[in-house]
Amino acid sequence: MVEKKHIAVVFGGKSSEHEVSRVSAQSILQNIDRNKYDVTMIGITREGRWLIYDGPVEKLPTGEWQAIAESQADSGNAPLPSSGYLGNPAGILEAAGAGQGKKKIDVVFPVLHGCNGEDGTIQGLLELAGIPYVGCGVLASALGMDKAYAKIIFEKEGIPQGKYLVFNRKQLNTNLESIIEQVENSLGYPCFVKPSNAGSSVGVSKAPNREKLVEALKLAARYDRRILVEEFIDGREVECAVLGNDEPVASTVGEIIAGSEFYDYQDKYVNDSSRTEIPANLPEETINQIRDYAVRAFKALDCAGLSRVDFFVHRKTGKIYINEINTLPGFTSISMYPKLWAKSGISYSELISRLIELALERFEDCKRDYSI
Ligand SMILES: Nc1ncnc2c1ncn2[C@@H]1O[C@H](COP(=O)(O)OP(=O)(O)O)[C@@H](O)[C@H]1O
Ligand SMILES: [Mg+2]
Repeated sequence: MVEKKHIAVVFGGKSSEHEVSRVSAQSILQNIDRNKYDVTMIGITREGRWLIYDGPVEKLPTGEWQAIAESQADSGNAPLPSSGYLGNPAGILEAAGAGQGKKKIDVVFPVLHGCNGEDGTIQGLLELAGIPYVGCGVLASALGMDKAYAKIIFEKEGIPQGKYLVFNRKQLNTNLESIIEQVENSLGYPCFVKPSNAGSSVGVSKAPNREKLVEALKLAARYDRRILVEEFIDGREVECAVLGNDEPVASTVGEIIAGSEFYDYQDKYVNDSSRTEIPANLPEETINQIRDYAVRAFKALDCAGLSRVDFFVHRKTGKIYINEINTLPGFTSISMYPKLWAKSGISYSELISRLIELALERFEDCKRDYSI
């Protein structure tokens, strides 16, 4: 019998997407193939403490997991070294070696969205620890998280996108007049203002005039020191899932029909007012062009494992614009990423196994030989 691989599913985290991560992790834990994998759950609290959790997965979305994990931390029965209390990221380095009757981790599945999870930081930690992990490496994660940088790569790759400007937080205090002038001269109103590094629409606003632009800039500056201002694109919002390493494949394309003025945080997670259409009702030519751009974006950033690439299709002209790439997209059972693959014939559970295999493949592929 083939020995089961030991997978650590890491969830929560300090980012604004902490809660979404817990829901994504619950779905993954409910669907991962237990015949192939032993699983350890590692939760990161909002304060940044790392805890091993060994209780029902249903208690992840409710938040009850934390108190249970804290009580287990002292029991000494945790499946990893020391105790259930990893305390901080260093705990995972220790877990990498395991020993003392504890099973070493074969693959980490970071089910973390946003800063500290999707931005290359945990990926860097896992690189140092020598543990294979699901998804993009350090560079692709960091580039995908930083919208302003991803745009530079998209431009180089020749993928069409809207006009944009980038400012630093400090310039808001010293050069506000000039910022307003630049926005009005080259983008006009309405425009979209967002933190360069963020997600879940946190800090994103549509600014219809000068007064709102100033408010929007200040709001975005709360979340990041770099602020992006974009021309407004009156488009339908479509998303494409990409899976693979060096030879990635694209799923069909799905459309998000937002319930509010744009696909904001309320719409994404609170009101539940948006809906999805898979496949999107678009000409086949448009769908194929989007799939091609999605794979090119994935390769241009040197992504691995998975990414979801989001686009706008202009309502009047039909022109396609890339919006952003998400290297650790929402993974709840009703999220677009797994739903797009389900439509293409890959079940949720198969998708998880595939991502784990890709993680191991990538780990081998990234090995370096320093011998002389
Ligand atoms: N330039 C734009 N034109 C029109 N709508 C936009 C633009 N940029 C963002 N939006 C709207 O705001 C939402 C969130 O912006 P996005 O850049 O996708 O950030 P996030 O990473 O938070 O998802 C999008 O899904 C879309 O509804
Ligand atoms: Mg988005």
